Order: sequence, then C-alpha cells, then structure tokens
Amino acid sequence: MKKILLLAILSVGSLFAQVKGEVEVPYIAYEIKMGNGFDAVQANCLMCHSFGYIINQGPQSKDFWAKKVDKMVTHFKAPITKEDATIVTNYLFQHYGNGKLK
Ligand code: HEC
Repeated sequence: MKKILLLAILSVGSLFAQVKGEVEVPYIAYEIKMGNGFDAVQANCLMCHSFGYIINQGPQSKDFWAKKVDKMVTHFKAPITKEDATIVTNYLFQHYGNGKLK
C-alpha cells in the first residue's frame, strides 16, 4: 500500500518536473476509504476504470453493490473470483452503503 502511494506521489512529482512555468490542472479529489477489502477493490476494480465510477453511485444497498460487481463480471468480463466478489461487495457496502440490504 505504502509503496503504491509513494509511487503515485513520485509519478505526480515527475509530471510537474517536466513542465516549465505554471500550469493549472483541475484537481479532483476522490475520497477513497481504506479498510478491510480495499486491497481486493484495488486488485479487481481499478484495472479498467477509476474509483470515481464507484463513488459516483452514492450510498447504495448491499444488493446494489452485489449486482454491480456481478455486472462487471458478466458484461465486462472482469476476471474476479467469487471469493473476491464477496470481499469487494462487503467493502463497498460497509464504506459506500446506505445501511439497507435490498
Ligand atoms: C474488465 C474491466 C472492468 C473491471 C475489472 C471492473 N469494471 Fe466497472 N466498469 C467497466 C465498464 C466498461 C464500465 C462502464 C463504463 C461506461 O459505461 O462508460 C464500468 C462501470 C462501472 C460502474 C458505473 C456504473 C455502471 O453500472 O456502469 C461501477 C459502479 C463499477 N464499474 C464498479 C466496478 C467494481 C466495484 C469493480 C470491481 C469489482 C469493477 N467495476 C471492475 C469495466 C470494468
């Protein structure tokens, strides 16, 4: 985790290093909540799109998240094991859930 953060910081640093003068770029902050299962999200969900896709859904039910993970597997052929799908669903419901199962 720390290594990835460090890499991210370093790569941003080198981006800026190549630019002469001041360049304004829009800064978009995603609030990514660390926690049990985040590793599984990182390994299974962020290979195709950013975390923004998840956050933009707003707080949702467990059923909603389970179906989204399912959709990624059936429609978009995401290579996610059943075990990881459960871990990801639980993570999403815990951190981006609305407290309802359905
Ligand atoms: C194989 C590539 C791939 C993987 C892996 C993947 N997704 Fe997606 N995801 C997509 C595509 C393609 C879209 C649709 C993009 C669009 O409509 O512009 C999408 C869209 C979404 C959306 C937006 C809502 C929707 O229904 O379109 C959410 C939420 C989402 N993904 C969550 C996840 C989660 C959670 C995981 C991990 C379990 C995941 N994705 C893994 C390809 C992937």
